[in-house]
Amino acid sequence: MANIVILGIQWGDEGKGKIVDLLTPAFGAVARYQGGHNAGHTVYLRGRKVVLHLIPSGILHPGTLCLIGNGVVIDPKAFLDELEALKTVTEIRDDLIAVSRTAHLILPYHGWLERAEEAALGDRKIGTTCRGIGPAYEDKIGRRGIRVCDLLDPVALREKIFANTAAKNAIAAARGLAPLDPERILADYSDYAVRMAPYIKDVSRLLHETIRAGRPVLFEGAQGVLLDIDHGTYPFVTSSNPTAGGVCTGLGVGPTAIDAVLGVTKAYTTRVGSGPFPTELFDDDGKLLAKRGDEFGATTGRPRRCGWFDAVAVSYACRINGISKMVITKPDVLDAFPAIKVCTSYRYKGSTLRDYPLEPGVLERVTPVYETLPGWKTPVHGLGRFDELPAGFKDYLRFLEDRVEAEAAVVSTGVEREETLFREDVLDGLIDLSAVRRALGE
Ligand code: IMP
Repeated sequence: MANIVILGIQWGDEGKGKIVDLLTPAFGAVARYQGGHNAGHTVYLRGRKVVLHLIPSGILHPGTLCLIGNGVVIDPKAFLDELEALKTVTEIRDDLIAVSRTAHLILPYHGWLERAEEAALGDRKIGTTCRGIGPAYEDKIGRRGIRVCDLLDPVALREKIFANTAAKNAIAAARGLAPLDPERILADYSDYAVRMAPYIKDVSRLLHETIRAGRPVLFEGAQGVLLDIDHGTYPFVTSSNPTAGGVCTGLGVGPTAIDAVLGVTKAYTTRVGSGPFPTELFDDDGKLLAKRGDEFGATTGRPRRCGWFDAVAVSYACRINGISKMVITKPDVLDAFPAIKVCTSYRYKGSTLRDYPLEPGVLERVTPVYETLPGWKTPVHGLGRFDELPAGFKDYLRFLEDRVEAEAAVVSTGVEREETLFREDVLDGLIDLSAVRRALGE
């Protein structure tokens, strides 16, 4: 069976958590390769809502190896709190959770400075989650970061916390902020070190052993392609690479380990935070999408901006990730619409753009060109077989497939695991669906 990447091909919140959780029984390991606890992966377990931030969405299946790679930034308190909360809802085997020893740590000064920076930007703020993600990656690239392995070396930990806190306090002083106490940070992180120690491992080696043993791996992306630091709508992006290339650098596996990439997209578009969003709606249709889709951020609770499906953006996301198969989520949100629009190109200064422009000055000024399709007006909610879908919805799917040049392999028709349909002909043996179905009790 294949090792596959599952990643979001819009601005995050595409519903990856449910898909990863559903497919996990077909895999030996689930591995996160970037981001941190800025992610919010919502999974429903026997009707109960579980929101995962840092721990891979395979965790709800006992027996699955859950790996957090070196490309992830770790807030140890967030990790330990999440694990503790998960232990109240399901059985967790500590020996099956591993955090890379070379992942970088988020420290209290990261979120603290980020909040000050965002406030200083005023109207131009990025709208980050303020979890310290960006500043932690800045320290990583600046070669002054503190890594998970430093937790296991008390002398190095003290020295690095004191040096970094002194440098950050100098920046803070210029902003009129009271200094942070390095002794206090050291005390907290020394405590986390003891509690984190059992999970600190060589994740790259564990991955290689899993693959060599013939157990397929699911690489789980957080955020989405359009939030990628290199390929997204810079500067309104996150500070890591959710794109498929992030798998190799963020986990220590070669590109030959990746057999396929599945892109997850909503049947419409949402975005949290600032930045250009050509198909954003400010009218009653936008309000209806937000209401029916319950569009509030899983991490920050912020209302999500909503708009029509943008085929220019999704086609770009598929191209740069080598995606030919998609997962379509939340089509049931569109059940109520008599007509549905899809953006198939942009107009800019009198010309037609079919390629996604990455210059913010252009993307902010494009006018979306829409094609309108009739709504299907029959609920697709909860449907589990392709032949049960209304003809209008099948037409919509075919239209999206044609415009983005990728096939819909999986359609999610509700939040529960069972509310999903697979197109086996499209998946073509990529995923062991019999394992998935067994876990569903079918
Ligand atoms: P950061 O990742 O906290 O630095 O935030 C940068 C941008 O990415 C902001 O626009 C956030 O709203 C967005 N973002 C970060 N994580 C997520 C996510 O999991 N879903 C959707 N947007 C996200």
